[in-house]
Amino acid sequence: MGGQDLLMSLARGERQQEDYKSLHWIGTFEEYLSVFAADPRVARNSFQRVYDMILSHGQEEHEEHKERLTRYRFFEDPHGDGRDALFGLERPLMRLVDVFKAAAMGYGTERRIILLHGPVGSSKSTIARLLKRGLETYARTEAGRLFTFDWRMEEKGGEEKGEWIPCPMHEEPLRLVPLDRRRKVVDKVNESFDAPYRIQVEGDLCPACRHRFNELMSRYDGDWSRIVRHIRVRRLVLSEKDRRGIGTFQPKDEKNQDSTELTGDINYRKIAEYGTDSDPRAFNFDGEFNVANRGIIEFIEVLKLDVAFLYDLLGATQEHSIKPKKFAQTDIDEVIIGHTNEPEYRRLQSNELMEAFRDRTVKIDIPYNTRLSHEIRIYEKDYRQDRIRGKHVAPHTLRMAAMWAVLTRLQEPKKEHQLQILQKLKLYDGKTLPGFTEDNIRELRAEAEREGMEGVSPRYIQDKISNALVSESIEGCVNPFMVMNELESGLQHHSLITSEEMRKRYIELLGTVRDEYEDLVKNEVQRAICTDEESIARLCANYIDNVKAYTQREKVKNRYTGRDEEPDERLMRSIEEKIDIPDSRKDDFRREIMNYIGALSLEGKRFDYKTNERLQKALELKLFEDQKDTIKLTSLVSSVVDKETQEKIDIVKGRMIKNYGYCDICATDVLNFVASVFARGDATQSS
Ligand SMILES: Nc1ncnc2c1ncn2[C@@H]1O[C@H](COP(=O)(O)OP(=O)(O)OP(=O)(O)O)[C@@H](O)[C@H]1O
Ligand SMILES: [Mg+2]
Repeated sequence: MGGQDLLMSLARGERQQEDYKSLHWIGTFEEYLSVFAADPRVARNSFQRVYDMILSHGQEEHEEHKERLTRYRFFEDPHGDGRDALFGLERPLMRLVDVFKAAAMGYGTERRIILLHGPVGSSKSTIARLLKRGLETYARTEAGRLFTFDWRMEEKGGEEKGEWIPCPMHEEPLRLVPLDRRRKVVDKVNESFDAPYRIQVEGDLCPACRHRFNELMSRYDGDWSRIVRHIRVRRLVLSEKDRRGIGTFQPKDEKNQDSTELTGDINYRKIAEYGTDSDPRAFNFDGEFNVANRGIIEFIEVLKLDVAFLYDLLGATQEHSIKPKKFAQTDIDEVIIGHTNEPEYRRLQSNELMEAFRDRTVKIDIPYNTRLSHEIRIYEKDYRQDRIRGKHVAPHTLRMAAMWAVLTRLQEPKKEHQLQILQKLKLYDGKTLPGFTEDNIRELRAEAEREGMEGVSPRYIQDKISNALVSESIEGCVNPFMVMNELESGLQHHSLITSEEMRKRYIELLGTVRDEYEDLVKNEVQRAICTDEESIARLCANYIDNVKAYTQREKVKNRYTGRDEEPDERLMRSIEEKIDIPDSRKDDFRREIMNYIGALSLEGKRFDYKTNERLQKALELKLFEDQKDTIKLTSLVSSVVDKETQEKIDIVKGRMIKNYGYCDICATDVLNFVASVFARGDATQSS
């Protein structure tokens, strides 16, 4: 029963009834005027509303390579499910927001198509979707609310009666006020409106409302106040699913598509009723442009549109009006956003129509990420361990896939920089390299203009990771090698690989990633072996005993035998060599350490190796070298492992699982792999 109550209360939700009431607010025209006076934002145009929506989520400033960047939190995770979060892209998104800002002010960009342009899979559709969903959500809040109106045409005994008929284009109620008087009303309100832009309610009623308006005008001899008694104002809830204020248009097979899909169509059933096809009541204003009025219309693959549509589109953009069949121009107020990928754009570059199109377009390049940490987050969004059922994703798997993706997008650094491409990747990712300043990095970026506009798309990586995740032949755990194999074999049939040379380069870059992975896990295994603090402390004490005896020309008492012995020069050197202390500097190094320990003991403190980074590193490396032999990592590759070694290996494995996120399978695999690397190293050394 408890379970049922709980589920019921979850299903019911909180405050839903209050929300419902405020979303279904209904009032007279007069009441709406007072809403408008109190909060003029209700009458913003579509660009102003979208701009405010983006800002309403807040923003952060930061500096990257001496450039100030703004991050609009709206693009991070507006729906709270992480699904459509965008990573990186600060510069293009800043440009996009600036376009909305200029449009909100009325500086001209409100008369342009916003064209997102970039390589396939660079998140153009995601950006459009974010804006559409974001606006739906915003319109449901107090800050984002907007209104429209319904008519009731009949009258009996001085009372308006009959069925409520909505404005088919859910227009702003203030449009009911004739333009000259409307301007006065709006100006009055603007006087005390504190915003960077002014409210402007432009345009005329749609043909259907205009028809009703005129009918009532003649019925009441031009008495406007009687006309508005026939309307009611109500909150407009934008919803793409309900075809209100948000629209999407996708080019299909040309023969099956005509302009009625954009601007509406004759309702043949009603022609009989109204006698003519030019009566607006016999017309469905339900084209995509009509539907999207007050909000956003998205044009998917806009350059694949048939030419006839492109002209409709250009008119809608430039004039803010559309031309339904048999009717006069109809005013619209909506953000028009399209996207196209690079190849498509280039294909049409020489086309004449493109000339007109380009001129009415603000093109915003949406490139791929060139920052590794951002790219990793794209994959974490879908393949983070807590989103995966039934399989483990080995550490570094997503990082390695992302690293390859970014590498394919980078331009090979020029010879004079003496920089490898992997180093470039790390510089871009915020790492420092001796000899490279922030200015150098900016130069690198500046000379590689097309960087991010080509290379492997996140979608390709996502596909290959999911292949590996569902593959029957991979049991229990997916590791970087498996994903890299998927990535490589996919290159055979990749439609976007246009030359053998490109394929070769991508495969070479996979090699670079494999090398990097090898380094990374070698270090990790070494650290797992060395995190045994007790052994380090013991080694440290031993070293200090010897150094003390050496600097004071004494003998050392052997801890086991109790006998006095000469300081163990070999032990000391084997540690010091790990941090490149040459023989000629060893005396200085040892004296420094003794002085330090002496100073500490004067203060009554004990020496702790962790306070001396260099010494700690030397000790860890030495210990690793020793243990590498005692646990016979290399023997893992071939021979049978004895019980004692196995126990030691199990300890290391346990640490990898506990500290570094490995599972039993990938910990074993990585230990085997690192062992084979060392075995290879030993073999090449002895040969
Ligand atoms: N910078 C990014 N941040 C977050 N996700 C990204 C980013 N770039 C690409 N993606 C992801 O890559 C996938 C492809 O994105 P989307 O479909 O939006 O691309 P597109 O540019 O519309 O591609 P196409 O040109 O093929 O239509 C999505 O899963 C998207 O989340
Ligand atoms: Mg797309």
